[in-house]
Amino acid sequence: MKPQDSALREEIARLKKEKNALIMAHYYQRDEIQEIADFIGDSLALARKAAETDADIIVMCGVHFMGETAKILCPDKKVLVPDMEAGCSLADSCDPEEFARFVVEHPGHTVISYVNTSAAVKAHTDIVVTSGNARKIVESLPADEKIIFGPDRNLGGYINSVCGRDMLLWPGACHVHDRFSIQKIQQMKEEHPGAKILVHPECRRPLQLIADKVGSTAALLDFARTDSASEYIVVTESGILFEMRRACPEKTFLAAPAEDSECQCNECDYMKLNTLEKVARALRDEQPEILVDAEIARRALRPIERMLELSR
Ligand code: 13P
Ligand code: SF4
Repeated sequence: MKPQDSALREEIARLKKEKNALIMAHYYQRDEIQEIADFIGDSLALARKAAETDADIIVMCGVHFMGETAKILCPDKKVLVPDMEAGCSLADSCDPEEFARFVVEHPGHTVISYVNTSAAVKAHTDIVVTSGNARKIVESLPADEKIIFGPDRNLGGYINSVCGRDMLLWPGACHVHDRFSIQKIQQMKEEHPGAKILVHPECRRPLQLIADKVGSTAALLDFARTDSASEYIVVTESGILFEMRRACPEKTFLAAPAEDSECQCNECDYMKLNTLEKVARALRDEQPEILVDAEIARRALRPIERMLELSR
């Protein structure tokens, strides 16, 4: 721990109590943020927790769409994201106006959007899903239902294959997950033949096919907790390794390399924008605050609530 971190931690703990704030963190956050968080989870768990908390302030240590989802679910609470520049390349790959046009051009379809979207895209959606509940929600719909799925083409392709569907896919992707190298991961597997391969469904199809487990961050973590292997190659953002190592100190977790990188890690630069210093500042100033246009929030709430109902 850096010497200045202990003063920041103390300040965060004091302000949190004084202001009845809840600090939530996604598994891709920096280690030191996961350490001070009151709650750590995947996108689904963060949305569920936001819906039930009685805190006055939510500090969402994640990216912008996670803050927006919390604000839509709790319009009376103050929702802060420590760095407003913490966006998401996948959410950015789906422009709301273009998506609305796509929906109009394909009438008669149920519109399913991944939670990694702006509130404006959710406003054009029938049901929101996360990688943790997409399969269950799609399976709950009649087999002949025509579906548009956006924006992640890799997650959509995965759901099509496991559910035997033919959903119409929006061609979006995440700049981190879309870049993992199958060759480098196969090479790692040759060097570690006993290691199991854990893959997030935002990765490309060839990686999904060699995986021992495909799942959301929480599902990969649960698998590692309960599985009997002692070594894993983890093909998702490397922040998850912190919680995996904390949950299973006796096991070895290897971060999968990206295509164009010599290092063993692969990081989401947006997720890493949040720092302890920015968390302390956000609590002190009650800024930067997430605000969502009232009409967009009203229309985006229904598909988020449907997700929570269908994935209970
Ligand atoms: P999870 O829903 O699995 O936490 O994933 C969120 C995300 O942004 C993956 O890149
Ligand atoms: Fe978005 Fe990819 Fe970062 Fe997840 S890892 S928040 S999908 S850019």
